[in-house]
Amino acid sequence: MIAMSQFNVVGGVIFIALFSVFATSAEGEASGGLPIPQQPLHSPRIAPQPPVLYAPAPEPAPLWPPCDGVDIVYINNYTARIYPFLDDTPWLQPYRFESIVTITNMGYSTVEAWAMGIDFQHNEILVDAEGIVLEDGRLMPVDVSNGTVLTQIPAGVLKNAIETAGDMNQVQKTFKIKGTEFGKKLDPMPRSINITLKGYNCSESLLYGNNTMHTCCSEPNRNVTLNDEEFFLNPETGNFTIMYDVIQAYPGSYLAHVTLSNDSPIARLDFWNISFTWQENEFITKMMGATTREADREVCMNGIAGKTYSDPDMNNVFCCSVSPEIVDLPIDRTNDTQIGGIEYCCRNGTLWPALLDEKKSKSAFLMNVYKVPPMSSQLNHIIPPGNWRIGDGRFKCGIPRRIKPTAYLDPYLLYETTAFKTWQVTCNETENKPPPKCCVSFSKYTNDSIVPCRTCACGCPASPQPACNASASAMLLPYSAITMHPENRTRQILAWADINHNKNIPNPLPCQDYCGVAINWHIVSNFTGGWSSRMTLFDWSDVTFPDWFAVLQMPGAYQGFQQAYSFNATKMPNMNGTAPDNTSVMVTGLQGLNYLMAATNRSAGKLQSVFSYTKLTTSGMREQDYFPEKVWFNGEECVMPEGFPLSRSGALPTRPGVLAFAIFLMSCTMAFYDFLGIL
Ligand SMILES: *[C@@H]1O[C@H](CO)[C@@H](O)[C@H](O)[C@H]1NC(C)=O
Ligand SMILES: *[C@@H]1O[C@H](CO)[C@@H](O)[C@H](O)[C@H]1NC(C)=O
Ligand SMILES: *[C@@H]1O[C@H](CO)[C@@H](O)[C@H](O)[C@H]1NC(C)=O
Ligand SMILES: *[C@@H]1O[C@H](CO)[C@@H](O)[C@H](O)[C@H]1NC(C)=O
Ligand SMILES: *[C@@H]1O[C@H](CO)[C@@H](O)[C@H](O)[C@H]1NC(C)=O
Ligand SMILES: *[C@@H]1O[C@H](CO)[C@@H](O)[C@H](O)[C@H]1NC(C)=O
Ligand SMILES: *[C@@H]1O[C@H](CO)[C@@H](O)[C@H](O)[C@H]1NC(C)=O
Ligand SMILES: *[C@@H]1O[C@H](CO)[C@@H](O)[C@H](O)[C@H]1NC(C)=O
Ligand SMILES: *[C@@H]1O[C@H](CO)[C@@H](O)[C@H](O)[C@H]1NC(C)=O
Ligand SMILES: *[C@@H]1O[C@H](CO)[C@@H](O)[C@H](O)[C@H]1NC(C)=O
Ligand SMILES: *[C@@H]1O[C@H](CO)[C@@H](O)[C@H](O)[C@H]1NC(C)=O
Ligand SMILES: *[C@@H]1O[C@H](CO)[C@@H](O)[C@H](O)[C@H]1NC(C)=O
Repeated sequence: MIAMSQFNVVGGVIFIALFSVFATSAEGEASGGLPIPQQPLHSPRIAPQPPVLYAPAPEPAPLWPPCDGVDIVYINNYTARIYPFLDDTPWLQPYRFESIVTITNMGYSTVEAWAMGIDFQHNEILVDAEGIVLEDGRLMPVDVSNGTVLTQIPAGVLKNAIETAGDMNQVQKTFKIKGTEFGKKLDPMPRSINITLKGYNCSESLLYGNNTMHTCCSEPNRNVTLNDEEFFLNPETGNFTIMYDVIQAYPGSYLAHVTLSNDSPIARLDFWNISFTWQENEFITKMMGATTREADREVCMNGIAGKTYSDPDMNNVFCCSVSPEIVDLPIDRTNDTQIGGIEYCCRNGTLWPALLDEKKSKSAFLMNVYKVPPMSSQLNHIIPPGNWRIGDGRFKCGIPRRIKPTAYLDPYLLYETTAFKTWQVTCNETENKPPPKCCVSFSKYTNDSIVPCRTCACGCPASPQPACNASASAMLLPYSAITMHPENRTRQILAWADINHNKNIPNPLPCQDYCGVAINWHIVSNFTGGWSSRMTLFDWSDVTFPDWFAVLQMPGAYQGFQQAYSFNATKMPNMNGTAPDNTSVMVTGLQGLNYLMAATNRSAGKLQSVFSYTKLTTSGMREQDYFPEKVWFNGEECVMPEGFPLSRSGALPTRPGVLAFAIFLMSCTMAFYDFLGIL
């Protein structure tokens, strides 16, 4: 109720503002040789003013149309000039600004894990935001001139008014942000504000008066959600899941059990490392099952921890880093009762799909966390760290979400208990993947040409030596050239072009694939009842891959797969959509073939197996169904070739999905395929 009345006071001020004349400030518009980039000011639209009422209104007209979703109000409360004073260059003059943001759930459903976007426009630097953090994990002060997304750690929940009988404390969140902006003496307003929750649709942000911006974000549906007194978010499934279980809590410290699990049937991490950022200057006094890269004890000694505690001794604490980086322990620590000894620990960072080895799909560690004042003495006050990062950046992690506490076997009591509090963080594959490390080539017994790996499939060096053409299509290879080092195939490629009367030879020749691992899929036989193929893995790199695995996605042939001979190939079961399931076969090396060896003396490490298929269950197979649609090697997607061989010599462009690309390719290679009599 208190929050509500405050809101009305602010509202009243805005109401008065509505009837004042509005004029845009001319400050901050000047330009010329600026060290600080000035973006053009796209002023937000000004809300239409309500008609002037001559009859006395019984109550003030609402400021903005009623909102039936999430309502956001941004009020710039304060601006002041700060040093340095730059009278000659007013557009560079820094100002302190303070704004009050109010997010209110006016809808039917509970808002889980809200995040709010603000598109700033005065080169703002955010300095403080009352417990609100940047979703991307950057720490304040931070340049937010390109806009930012703010959120709460752990995930913030705004209940709906229906389930709380309108308790504004649970329905609304108000926070103040403080920062520096440049060149705008009064009322520096953002361009727009929004809420970034999935399914919510925000109206245009409108200015009311000089210093108030409002938007209303409508809900995806109007289902009323009712939640218990103690509200838990639903667990989610990502590619990787981190569970942060507080299993024991004490007045100044707590014991956290952290489990990292690989929930993806195709992803793999070797030598994993994870990091996170403490939100309240916590530090680690003891760790089992994993270790941090640095101790950073000076952070504790010079900080609040050093001023607060004489015990534990800051010279002996485990890690004081604000963003510790954590790595697994080596295998020989498995039974070490001092630093190892945790179930799922100590595998030197191996995290495999559960399909391959259930026991190696999880890693766990324990840490004893000390809190520092002001909130340290409250037993119940535990804020999990935020900004979780995992591995090499291929996966992006979300904010910790409080879920129903995990049930676990207490190591000391030997019976099942539940964690005190549990947070979950999911991490998903990002769009911007690192450069691929493997590529695929196709061939077939009725066709002498290999459709090779794509030109620069795994990226090209800036100035390749010898010079080569990075944009030309890879040229067909004779089958015999596949065991030659990619750098040494020039003569064969030229001779093959000559034999096939291909006159369209780019000069310089197309670049090679630059992939460490190349996989060839060769159709060996095709008869009425079935067919077979041979998969060959080449390792041209100087890296050996122990316990390699590959996933072959072949929707059209999956049902007919029978067996592989030298590899262990298993049909992947239903994975609830977390993987290319019911279309894919997981392949590993059998005992003795589980190492893909590095190249020696320019000769590739090589592994090979025949696969057999029946046609009984796969009627109507198309030509392309005999070739994998996608291939993953050690959890990373490989680059597929430009086409697949036909029964006659030559190649066809790949699937319809890549039609646009195929057309582009065809225009590049028209003459080439033309001559082969395919098009
Ligand atoms: C809005 O700003 C203009 C100029 O900056 C000023 O003249 C006007 O009084 C302001 N209006 C209100 C309601 O503050
Ligand atoms: C707005 O700013 C003034 C001056 O700093 C301050 O006194 C006042 O409390 C602020 N209002 C709110 C709601 O924070
Ligand atoms: C919300 O705001 C952020 C920050 O300005 C922006 O990046 C994002 O695209 C916006 N989202 C929508 C749906 O407009
Ligand atoms: C803002 O965007 C511009 C253009 O994309 C980029 O050059 C600049 O580095 C960005 N600034 C920040 C702080 O991210
Ligand atoms: C929510 O409402 C939509 C229609 O508005 C309906 O399709 C959906 O099934 C409902 N979801 C739940 C969880 O009730
Ligand atoms: C740890 O102990 C178990 C059981 O005592 C044993 O099987 C295992 O080999 C030991 N591991 C190491 C690395 O010593
Ligand atoms: C353990 O991992 C490190 C990299 O984190 C690696 O250099 C080392 O060779 C690995 N040890 C074993 C036994 O695999
Ligand atoms: C083949 O792999 C499956 C699971 O990946 C495993 O259960 C099975 O034991 C393996 N078979 C052999 C012979 O290695
Ligand atoms: C990861 O993906 C799952 C399923 O699509 C989703 O529920 C979850 O919110 C995602 N997590 C992040 C951090 O994007
Ligand atoms: C293969 O190429 C490398 C470097 O390009 C060269 O040193 C080597 O002699 C070549 N080998 C053959 C057999 O041509
Ligand atoms: C396999 O043989 C069938 C006829 O039995 C033919 O239609 C199909 O195109 C052939 N596929 C390949 C890849 O050879
Ligand atoms: C990650 O999860 C998404 C959605 O569940 C899935 O499509 C994708 O294949 C997964 N990626 C990996 C590497 O497992």
